[in-house]
Amino acid sequence: MKIGIIGGTGDIGEGLAHRLSHNHEIYIGSRDKDKACETSECMIKALSERGISARCSGVTNQEAVDLGDIVVLSINYKHLESTISSLSGFEDKIIITPVNPIGKSDHFFYDPPVEGSAALAIKRMLPESAKIVAAFNNISAQKWKNLDERLDYSVAVCGDDPSAKKIVIDLVQEVSELRAYDAGPLDVSPIIESITPLILNIAKFNNMKDVGIKFY
Ligand SMILES: NC(=O)c1ccc[n+]([C@@H]2O[C@H](COP(=O)([O-])OP(=O)(O)OC[C@H]3O[C@@H](n4cnc5c(N)ncnc54)[C@H](OP(=O)(O)O)[C@@H]3O)[C@@H](O)[C@H]2O)c1
Repeated sequence: MKIGIIGGTGDIGEGLAHRLSHNHEIYIGSRDKDKACETSECMIKALSERGISARCSGVTNQEAVDLGDIVVLSINYKHLESTISSLSGFEDKIIITPVNPIGKSDHFFYDPPVEGSAALAIKRMLPESAKIVAAFNNISAQKWKNLDERLDYSVAVCGDDPSAKKIVIDLVQEVSELRAYDAGPLDVSPIIESITPLILNIAKFNNMKDVGIKFY
């Protein structure tokens, strides 16, 4: 599949590219194409040193939308609205959101927009034909990037378009030992997103690193 990653130079975008570029054509998007090319070249080099071939290129965020059958919104919630409004061509695409709106005081807390979640706010921002699927919300980027790491975690996936959700579930299942679970419609996204501040607090208050979740 062709996967465009908006903000693909960041932590989670780069991590996803590390794990998906062997089987898929990845377009790392950025506001700065040179930065995207540099990220892509570094990743291809790192993977080739491990004997893994990667199909990846650096592009602008707009090209990531244009070239991807799937588009991942790999940016912080606070930059979503301005980024989406500067881009076009989302019609009929599968849009994956790993976005978690999180606040921080002496602990992490879920800080959703009025729509109820980042995914539901994205639904408002995008054309009606865009198929929004929430996934990859609860795994640390460091785990994605470190290829020595077995990703023995569960990924909750929710969305309103059954065929788009199935494509994303199949994509998740290809990665290491990840197991995808259909969590229901996009209305479930507040629950999925709010798991992330919970695991960040568990990591913080128990001196743990990169806590993940697994459903049995
Ligand atoms: N990090 C994690 O472990 C993790 C895990 C699960 C989910 N998530 C979610 O994934 C999303 C991305 O997280 P991240 O940690 O990868 O973020 P990040 O590294 O902080 O940023 C991602 C990219 O956003 C772009 N960006 C920065 N400022 C911007 C602005 N003002 N306008 C538009 N784009 C801007 C940058 O790309 P360019 O400068 O190249 O344009 C940057 O590389 C977040 O919503 C987060 O909740 C993160």
